[in-house]
Amino acid sequence: MQTPWIAPSILSADFARLGEEVKNVLAAGGDVVHFDVMDNHFVPNLTFGPMVCQALRDYGITAPIDVHLMIEPVDRIIPDFAKAGASYITFHPEASTHVDRTLQLIHDQGCKAGLVFNPATPLDYLEWAIERVDMILLMSVNPGFGGQSFIPYVLRKIEKAREIIDASGRDIRLEVDGGVKVDNIAKIAAAGADTFVAGSAIFGQPDYNQVIDAMRAEIAK
Ligand code: DX5
Ligand code: ZN
Repeated sequence: MQTPWIAPSILSADFARLGEEVKNVLAAGGDVVHFDVMDNHFVPNLTFGPMVCQALRDYGITAPIDVHLMIEPVDRIIPDFAKAGASYITFHPEASTHVDRTLQLIHDQGCKAGLVFNPATPLDYLEWAIERVDMILLMSVNPGFGGQSFIPYVLRKIEKAREIIDASGRDIRLEVDGGVKVDNIAKIAAAGADTFVAGSAIFGQPDYNQVIDAMRAEIAK
């Protein structure tokens, strides 16, 4: 199992002060910046693209940026995100006609690659693609919006994904996204996750440090 990472989702940040918000949440103990890209096509919401990623780098953000693509098609925007400073690029297999090609494209651009599974999407793609995957992102809400409730059956799916990762012997992060809070993060960690996306739970509180410390204490339980 890898060192736990807290990945604040900037979807819930104050966009008018984005650079400052990202700096503050990292200073408060966030490990990576979770960057939710939505296209109003694959998901019914619209956010930001490579220019905003580049703007964060230009502002001096050096932490890894974990780009979660909720867009279709995916391939043509990947080089732009790599140039803009993305560290991880994850995509939903439903949004790519050639999943293996997309994973290779992400690696060719010098980034780490991951597959994202919606709550009801089976993990079958991993049977073959696991060799090209550096991160598995399990959605614990239906993608598109922050502030939704964690879907309980995803806990069993986290256990299953953990077994698959351990059996592969590969160095793969298991990230969980959606409805992660101080009061359920211990269960999510116990099921086998090592990377925890949290948007509204962090940005909805005045003291980011306090929430992130409380999350770490729960993970360590
Ligand atoms: C949802 C996004 C999430 C979202 C999580 O489609 O992928 O990253 O920001 O928000 P919370 O933590 O509020 O559920
Ligand atoms: Zn996300």
